[in-house]
Amino acid sequence: MERTFLAIKPDGVQRGLVGEIIGRFEAKGFTLVGMKLIVASRELAEQHYGVHKERPFFEGLVNFITSGPMVAMVWEGDGVVASARKIIGATNPLNSEPGTIRGDLAVNVGRNIIHGSDAVETANQEISLWFKDEELSAWKPCLTPWIV
Ligand code: TYD
Repeated sequence: MERTFLAIKPDGVQRGLVGEIIGRFEAKGFTLVGMKLIVASRELAEQHYGVHKERPFFEGLVNFITSGPMVAMVWEGDGVVASARKIIGATNPLNSEPGTIRGDLAVNVGRNIIHGSDAVETANQEISLWFKDEELSAWKPCLTPWIV
């Protein structure tokens, strides 16, 4: 089953948006298989955003991402990588459609509240960067017995 790495950035945590954001992925029907509150080290942040290390915003991005706790998560489901990117919206919140997380809740590209892996291969790399195998739980939602 496909998995993706999502992280609520320090601004999303500080603004009290953790429940709102998690709720959107639960409501969509994806399964949360790993989650932790973590203050990323500089090394972890630099590795995570390594692809951007030559970009002018890299230093500020790493400073921001290490500035406070983030909620790091692994979500599972059919097509979850691409679907989560749609739910999150465009990188610059001013271009994100209303109805997306960034479109509804953010205004600044440097404070866009959530990260989501951009491809299945990247997702697998990011999951192993942020989580140990034993921190992930493989479980299948079994809704009916809980609501009848
Ligand atoms: P990127 O991987 O292009 O976007 P996304 O998060 O949508 O996958 O960029 C990573 C983060 O870098 C982005 O979420 C916010 C920050 N960033 C800036 O601060 N300024 C910029 O001009 C860009 C492109 C990104």
